[in-house]
Amino acid sequence: MRKNIVAGNWKMNKTLQEGVQLAAEVRKQVEASGALKCEVVLAPPFIHLTEVCKVVAGSGIGVSAQNCAAETSGAYTGEVSAAMIQSIGCAYTLIGHSERRSYYGDTDQILSKKVKMALANGLKPIFCIGEVLAERESGIHFEVVKSQLEKGLFDLTTEEFQNIVLAYEPVWAIGTGKTASSAQAQEIHAFIRRTIELKYGAQVAQNTTILYGGSCNDANAAELFACPDVDGGLIGGASLVAEKFIKIAQAF
Ligand code: 13P
Repeated sequence: MRKNIVAGNWKMNKTLQEGVQLAAEVRKQVEASGALKCEVVLAPPFIHLTEVCKVVAGSGIGVSAQNCAAETSGAYTGEVSAAMIQSIGCAYTLIGHSERRSYYGDTDQILSKKVKMALANGLKPIFCIGEVLAERESGIHFEVVKSQLEKGLFDLTTEEFQNIVLAYEPVWAIGTGKTASSAQAQEIHAFIRRTIELKYGAQVAQNTTILYGGSCNDANAAELFACPDVDGGLIGGASLVAEKFIKIAQAF
C-alpha cells in the first residue's frame, strides 16, 4: 500500500542555526509522539541539508532538497546536482514547485530532465503540479494538471514512475490562507490517480502517494487527510514551527 507523507517545505526561510534548531525540535517531537501514521520529511534550503541530515540521522525522518539541477555536473554556476544531494544522505528532492515554475523558468521540458536526473541518482522526486486561479475559474484545472503530468513524467518507465511522489498544490492556495476544500482536493486527487492509472495501470496508481499542498495547517489537515486519495501534505508556512508541523503529522 502507498505511504502517507507529511513534508515541510521551508522555502527560503531560517538561518543555518535556526534550521538546525527547528530540525532538532521536529525530531524531539516526532520521537515523543510515538508511532506516526506517516513519514515525516524536511525540505530545508540547500546549505542546511548536510546539517539537517546529521540532526535527523537514525530517526526515520526523511530529508529532501527543494530543487536539483537538470545537468549532471560541470560549468553550471550556482546549481546543485542530484548526485551531490544524494551524497549527503537526502532521499528526496522537490521538483517543479510552482515557485520554481513561475519565478525561475522551470518549464515542463526542464522539469522532465530534472526528474530523470534525480531518479538516475537514487533520489525520489516529489513532483509538484497545480493550476493558477484563472485556470480553476475557467474550469480547465483538470487539463492543466494532466498536461503537467504528461509533460513532466509520462515518458518514465513503470519502474521509474514507482519512485515518484506527487504533490498537488493549487497555486491560488499557496501562502494565501485559502485552502482547497476537502471536496475539491479529493476530486482532483482522484482525477490525478485515474490519469496515472490510464497510463501505468491500477496497481501503480493505487501505490502512488499524492500529497496536498496550499495553506494546509494543523486546523484543516485532518479533514484533508481523511479524503481517500489524499495521502498527506506538502506544508509551507506551517512547517516552520515544530509544534504546528507535528500536529499536522499527527492528523492521520
Ligand atoms: P503554504 O503551506 O505556505 O501555503 O505553502 C505550500 C507550499 O507551497 C508547499 O510547497
